[in-house]
Amino acid sequence: MTATLPVSGGGFEPYDVIVGQGLLSQLGVLIAPLVRGRTVIITDETVASLHGPAALASLQAAGVRGRLLTVPPGENSKSFAELERVIDRLLAFGLDRRDLIIALGGGVVGDLAGLAAALYMRGIDVVQVPTTLLAQVDSSVGGKTAIDTPRGKNLVGAFHQPRMVVADIDVLATLPARQLRSGWAEVLKHGLICDRDFFDWLAGEGAVGAKGDPVALTRAVVRSVEIKSAIVGEDEKEAGRRALLNLGHTFGHAIEAELGFDEDLLTHGEAVALGCAMAFRLSAALGLCAGAEAERVGTAVAAAGLPTRLEHAGVFRAERLLARMAGDKKAEGGRLTLILARAIGDAFVDKAVDSAALIDFLKGEGAA
Ligand code: GLY
Repeated sequence: MTATLPVSGGGFEPYDVIVGQGLLSQLGVLIAPLVRGRTVIITDETVASLHGPAALASLQAAGVRGRLLTVPPGENSKSFAELERVIDRLLAFGLDRRDLIIALGGGVVGDLAGLAAALYMRGIDVVQVPTTLLAQVDSSVGGKTAIDTPRGKNLVGAFHQPRMVVADIDVLATLPARQLRSGWAEVLKHGLICDRDFFDWLAGEGAVGAKGDPVALTRAVVRSVEIKSAIVGEDEKEAGRRALLNLGHTFGHAIEAELGFDEDLLTHGEAVALGCAMAFRLSAALGLCAGAEAERVGTAVAAAGLPTRLEHAGVFRAERLLARMAGDKKAEGGRLTLILARAIGDAFVDKAVDSAALIDFLKGEGAA
């Protein structure tokens, strides 16, 4: 099955997210209608060796001129230095505003290549070809692009919507199991935000997707993209409803930061899963949702092999976590914004969480 999912909103050109199996070999044909000049595939060295030849062959078969530009794998590539190097290479290639960038990779490549496209000659077209589950269900859709600075993650960026997103489920087969599970956290998040039936399926027969079943993965990616694109269509610049997509992220980001963003200890997706479980437990503790709902979330998260509780609890101090949460760029004027829930599938933005209640909650979770 191949699904074509439209993304549209008031402030940007509509585009399609195409989800299915075997799409990398059709990449050239799919993007040909968008190509007015040349293309450059920006990717990392790992993805280049796995999928670069297939992507280039597909462009060539469709008569699309393309070449590869590789960056080192890993979060360190989301830097001013690497952005400058990428833009310098594009200039050396003589790319102009009719040309097209193809971001082939996970979240790091999508963010870096997307930002390079936003800036190059005041903006050229980009097609996102996400190769991780996390990128397919989240970062490739919606136009957020960014690099990090030593002061924090994703602090310098732009909204630059892609012209198309091509999500090939088959490429997920090359992902390490832990990375696939991490992407599953963002899938669960979408059900938790606004689709109880989807969550029920994910927690039941759809759970095989977290282990790589391609049919379940296709359905999980399609529904996640539908949910995300509906929210982005309503609120591209995160003035309101788009903040719901940060469910689990404020807790998760604070925990990741305390662990020095060491992906060996905790991946981003694991942090999001833990953050979702915590957001539901806090919602229950505040009397906003039933305790049984929080328990169900914890069970589904654990069944997917994702963490539900703070490990190394002694490492965390409640005050430090709170300070991180308040310093998160999603905090407005120092006030804490959290995504909480009335039930599974019914999340909301809460801008009035009391700091003292949050400290008590974090101590109850095992922070010192
Ligand atoms: N990853 C959250 C968003 O795109 O808004």
